[in-house]
Amino acid sequence: MARIFSGIQPTGIATLGNYLGALRNWVALQEGEDEGIYCLVDLHAITVFQDPAALREQTRQMAALLLACGIDPERSVLFHQSAVSAHARLGWIFNCVARMGWLKRMTQFKDKAGKDQEAVSTGLFVYPNLMAADIHAYHATKVPVGDDQLQHIELANDIAEKFNHDFGVAFFPRIEAVVQKESARVMSLRDGTKKMSKSDPSDMSRINMTDTADVIAQKIKKAKTDPEPLPEHVKDLEGRPEARNLVGIYAAIMGQKPHEVLHQFAGSGFGPFKQRLADVLVAHVEPIGRRTREYLADPTALDHVLQAGARKAEAIAEPIVREAERLVGFLPRG
Ligand code: AMP
Ligand code: TRP
Repeated sequence: MARIFSGIQPTGIATLGNYLGALRNWVALQEGEDEGIYCLVDLHAITVFQDPAALREQTRQMAALLLACGIDPERSVLFHQSAVSAHARLGWIFNCVARMGWLKRMTQFKDKAGKDQEAVSTGLFVYPNLMAADIHAYHATKVPVGDDQLQHIELANDIAEKFNHDFGVAFFPRIEAVVQKESARVMSLRDGTKKMSKSDPSDMSRINMTDTADVIAQKIKKAKTDPEPLPEHVKDLEGRPEARNLVGIYAAIMGQKPHEVLHQFAGSGFGPFKQRLADVLVAHVEPIGRRTREYLADPTALDHVLQAGARKAEAIAEPIVREAERLVGFLPRG
């Protein structure tokens, strides 16, 4: 049995990109025999300022969404990161293992910091160390994520290797990203070269998992396309990022390959294809949004689910992180 760990930031509302790239995978992995640990990474969220009331609200919202997607708190461990101190403690140790040069190479940092790197929080810079700690605190070996996180997973392996080397142990195992090939990167509906993101200023650029049927249909109708009909061959989607994205979304939702989708729609204009795409999206996404609202109606019950999850998470992480603290040379806590 392997242990799976993944995390999502409780900021904004999860998008179709989060769902197809990560969350759906988490639910599918529950069917296997691996143990799944899923974390709302609120410590990561505050690397950029969050309004405190909004952070509380959005943490509950994300918990509700994960339950609505099918994460079963009896079979998996679902909790909020700040409730388990092992993350921050191992994160600090990793701050002292990782090298400045490694972090300076992280493309997500460069993207998020933009032009004014001097003005962002220091947390944003060391955030990949905390992400490494999230995973290694559980000796997890499989990490289901979208492909934007691959560089962070490599870094987590580099950190573990250096820790093992520095202290002469084989304590932290190698980890492996589990990436859903077809939907590793869902793109913006307004610009097929940018990833769909919950932080994009334009709400029309994304499908939120809580959007109503009307809103979903409207967004797909307005989604950017090009004047050509859909081609017969997948290679002819090259240079047509918006068309490729919509075909990819349809394929991911229906569990098909892009060439199967093209087989069905080749020669069709975007009108009829978008209509079908909107229908299948509504059929998949709308029930999840509805269940999310049902869970959100009882915030106390949600808090209890997360708190019970945190105690289970702690029982796994605490002995591992205590051993890491011992290896580093800290005296026992007693
Ligand atoms: P975040 O929204 O950055 O907290 O990401 C949570 C998870 O969703 C991570 O595993 C990401 O790789 C994944 N993800 C985020 N955006 C997308 C996207 N547009 N396509 C595919 N996966 C995504
Ligand atoms: N950094 C991830 C993101 O922004 C979220 C995350 C934090 C994560 N810790 C993790 C993902 C550990 C996988 C494993 O999407």
